[in-house]
Amino acid sequence: MPPMAYHCRKVQSMKESNRSPGPRPLPILGNLLEFGKDPLGFLTRVTNQYGCGVKVRIEAERDTYIVTHPEHVEEVLLNTGRTFQKGYQRHPLMRLVLGNGLVTSEGDFWLRQRRLAQPAFHRQRIAAFGETMVSYTKRLADEWQSGQKLDLHAAMMRLTMEIIAKCMLDIDLHADRRSSGVGHAVEVMLAEYSSQMTSAVRAILERLPFRVPMPGEGKLRAAVGELDALIYAVVAERRTEGKDHGDLLSMLLAAQDDDGSGMSDEQLRDELVTLFLAGHETTANTLTWTFYLLAQNPQVTEGLLEEFKREIGDRSPTANDYPRLVYTQQVIKEVLRLYPPVWWLSREPLEDWLCDGILIPKGSEVGISQWVMHRDPEYFPEPERFNPERWTAEFENALPRYAYFPFGGGPRLCIGNNFALLEAALILTTILPIYRFDVLPEPVVKPEPSLTLRPASGMQVQIATRL
Ligand code: HEM
Repeated sequence: MPPMAYHCRKVQSMKESNRSPGPRPLPILGNLLEFGKDPLGFLTRVTNQYGCGVKVRIEAERDTYIVTHPEHVEEVLLNTGRTFQKGYQRHPLMRLVLGNGLVTSEGDFWLRQRRLAQPAFHRQRIAAFGETMVSYTKRLADEWQSGQKLDLHAAMMRLTMEIIAKCMLDIDLHADRRSSGVGHAVEVMLAEYSSQMTSAVRAILERLPFRVPMPGEGKLRAAVGELDALIYAVVAERRTEGKDHGDLLSMLLAAQDDDGSGMSDEQLRDELVTLFLAGHETTANTLTWTFYLLAQNPQVTEGLLEEFKREIGDRSPTANDYPRLVYTQQVIKEVLRLYPPVWWLSREPLEDWLCDGILIPKGSEVGISQWVMHRDPEYFPEPERFNPERWTAEFENALPRYAYFPFGGGPRLCIGNNFALLEAALILTTILPIYRFDVLPEPVVKPEPSLTLRPASGMQVQIATRL
């Protein structure tokens, strides 16, 4: 980890200036209505108008300060676990779905889990999954026909879910009937969880002095129960069988701490559900936005096809091709800049924090938005333009480290980043030479900042075979 250029300055006196300007909050609702109507527009507007450290009221019980300078983002992300925490455990829905897995846990518990899981995500281990990524993509592409209309987002969701299920649990959701319950439970869980977490109704109900169950909460609990039962059954089977399946579960089962202890069934459940959820919608969105942008930028598509022809030719792509697919990597980087699947990170200062002269009190929320920062014209000239060519080595070297961070950073950097980048590249190299997707005018494509940044009403396309 690089030495920190900027350190938290502990605030000794509450008399420090507390300018924290921001839009006027309404009584009780704060800025929730404005935020709820158009979260991305709201964040862009208030950060442009008030600058780094703008104070808004979105949550019921605490203020949110939005930080937009790369050096402050660095300070927050690098100090998570020291002077900042995630604070996700306070959220009952997160606890219910993700338990104490890598995304939600903190402190020593998180560190132990991360150390146990990290080797499974080593670049070389991930390379072994390349074959599954390509063969599952081919299987899907073989089902498509020229002229067919489909929801590309739904197709990418299904594909990345099948891939993560195979790589993680060695189960084939497509072929194995017993496993189809897993796919169904994950789909229901993700849909219900996303709508609950981002629901304005929930945000309003939370402001009531008594607890009201959310509509759909029962369905979510049932899906969690169904998935848990299936996962516990697979884990029990594996423990008895003792065979190495070469999947993530085998690696997690084999992982041992210095004292020789491994993960309990409950820890395994929490990590597996976390990986299921963190590991497929994000990549599905990346691919959907990639095809969307390629449909509008035929010269970029041409550049990709030339690279595939030159570097891969007529054979199937493999993980070994990845380092040579330089333009492909630039394209994916640019997609992750314009449509970052994780568009918002949240942290909680464990002590008062003076950020650019603004006092951010302990216990408040610090919000960081990739959507806002990746479109800052100071760092990205013509920020709205899809321009993969901007990603030259010189450009990257000159860019402040935390002006662009689709995978977060610091100790909580995405553990699946190499998996995701390889998967996106291999799916693209498998599909693009065969098919073109024409995005249909209806429904209009609009990014929706749900748990991840997805197209609000899916993405209807018509498929055409390339000649
Ligand atoms: C393009 C795809 C992906 C994007 C953009 C993405 C983005 C992120 C980001 C921004 C974080 C940090 C969150 C924070 O600091 O609060 C994160 C964490 C995480 N991601 Fe990803 N992710 C992607 C794919 C994946 C995949 C494929 C997996 C697993 C197979 C995965 C598993 C995780 C896990 C377990 C964490 C928590 C790590 C920790 O706190 O120790 N992600 N991801």
